[in-house]
Amino acid sequence: MIRPASPDAVATAADLIRRGSVVAFPTETVYGLGADATNAVAVARIFAIKARPAFDPLIVHLHAPAQLALVATSVPPAAAVLSERFWPGPLTIVLPKAAGIPDVVSAGLPSVAVRVPDHAVARALLAAAGTPIAAPSANPFGYVSPTTAAHVEAQLGTQVPLILDGGACRVGVESTIVSFMTAEPALLRPGGIALEEIERVIGPLRLGADSARPSAPGQLPHHYSPRTPLEIVARPEDVPASERTDTALLLPWPDPAAHGFAHVELLSADGALTSVAANLFAALRRLDAGAHRRIVAVAVPETGLGRAIMDRLRRAAA
Ligand code: TXA
Ligand code: MG
Repeated sequence: MIRPASPDAVATAADLIRRGSVVAFPTETVYGLGADATNAVAVARIFAIKARPAFDPLIVHLHAPAQLALVATSVPPAAAVLSERFWPGPLTIVLPKAAGIPDVVSAGLPSVAVRVPDHAVARALLAAAGTPIAAPSANPFGYVSPTTAAHVEAQLGTQVPLILDGGACRVGVESTIVSFMTAEPALLRPGGIALEEIERVIGPLRLGADSARPSAPGQLPHHYSPRTPLEIVARPEDVPASERTDTALLLPWPDPAAHGFAHVELLSADGALTSVAANLFAALRRLDAGAHRRIVAVAVPETGLGRAIMDRLRRAAA
């Protein structure tokens, strides 16, 4: 059931979490499907509802950095610096896991992914629940992440007792994941905080995670995928006129060459990458619902948020 995130609804949600149930809630990036991170049975429900493979670990959400000691055994100085600079916000850091976090959360890894979300409803829920909340994106495994409560309801509504509605997500792509499990910190997933911003604070990150052994299945080549085949082009001109009538176009910003298509989803009127990211997943869902033969997405430059946007588009196209 969807409920506007009133104080009363948040209290009910916190109670459900404390009693071992699951709740969907908004964050600044995407909606999450949460359970008490210290309760293995509750966390196992998340995997069942999402049909998520057990090898795909979850992110643990904290109300405040002070709770880090509950989930991680140590915090390297560079990780502490990042958390101070970017929390609350769309940054997840991977640290050595504390014993209080059950193995089901980390898929058996000795590490745990943590973040402090920057959303009033998520923070109110975390405060009221009084426990760290493990939460992946609230979508069936492999599909496009939800950025509204209605997205969650459409796919998981019958299985989730409560969906807190906090409006559309501001960032629209998932958090950036940085691992501190190796001597050099590594970027596991580009996301809402630009790589450039992180490198400005702690220096160069190791790039290109090992996709043969995905420690972040957001890294699996096929993920975030609509059912309609999706292709990426550099410019609308790359689609011949004869193919446009049964092609839906995902267009980052206005382009006079984008005519003759069956349908056009414009992501940003002003050309800002922040708007492109914020509208990306909702547009993909609309296009997927539109019974088009194929979707063609026009690429954006891979700087700043563009890196996360292109990462999601490539996986959607795989
Ligand atoms: O913005 C976000 O991060 C959203 C919101 C709800 O917080 N959450 C999210 O969760 O995107 P999910 O489960 O869809 O993606 C989490 C990613 C997965 O690819 C997972 O493999 C990776 O985080 N991850 C979790 N724990 C990890 C660990 N110990 N080591 C490496 N990667 C990990
Ligand atoms: Mg996900």
